[in-house]
Amino acid sequence: MQYEAPANWARSEENSIDGAHPSFVHSSFGSKRDPKVHIVPIEKPDEWTASTTRERTPPDRSQKTGRMRELTAEVRGKTRATTAFCFTGITHRIVIDRSDGLRQRTLSHRTPIDRYNTRTFTTQVRDYDFTPEADIERLEGRRQAVREDVAIVQTVLPKLPPRRPGQELLTEADQLEGAFRQIIQRRIDAGWEIDSQIVDRDADHEVYVIPSPERRLDPKGWVHRPVPTTKPRAGGE
Ligand SMILES: [Fe+2]
Repeated sequence: MQYEAPANWARSEENSIDGAHPSFVHSSFGSKRDPKVHIVPIEKPDEWTASTTRERTPPDRSQKTGRMRELTAEVRGKTRATTAFCFTGITHRIVIDRSDGLRQRTLSHRTPIDRYNTRTFTTQVRDYDFTPEADIERLEGRRQAVREDVAIVQTVLPKLPPRRPGQELLTEADQLEGAFRQIIQRRIDAGWEIDSQIVDRDADHEVYVIPSPERRLDPKGWVHRPVPTTKPRAGGE
């Protein structure tokens, strides 16, 4: 499925990779009984990616509906959940392995429409219940989760993440968002940020474009100018 949300791309992505939010924002997953976020080490941080893996208390059977309720035992062990993001493509993957063997993977990719609106493409695969009815139910489950996320993320202020670290309080539970912010900051320091002051100033008369790689091979004859970016900062790449 795909959807558009009135929220900035980084705000939207931070919402998705936030390990604390499922128990508070989502009705059919996350644990209402044990919403505490267990702090775990960041895995595989590198220039573009990071991930965390948690053993989570599963949601109660009463949070499930339809076929998922039929498939869910009253008592079950912890669910293993790995959340990984990759900054390129603004992509993340959520891997869910339940104690009863049911497995589910969700892949999401974001495209900024502008500073305040984001389009998301998302795919979910599972290794149980291949009936068409289950497809419909899972799709409605995803739509419900999106409604719950968008209801929150569209209210977050400021609408864009702060420019400097320390302007917003991140806690231990926000560790994956912290890693995501650091990657954004490194790109800003390297001078990759769109200079929105210039874009706004010229908006009535000029359409700037994100230049395609083709322009490097053939730099002449292009009508629209590449979008202006900020300058590298001291210490940037
Ligand atoms: Fe969510």
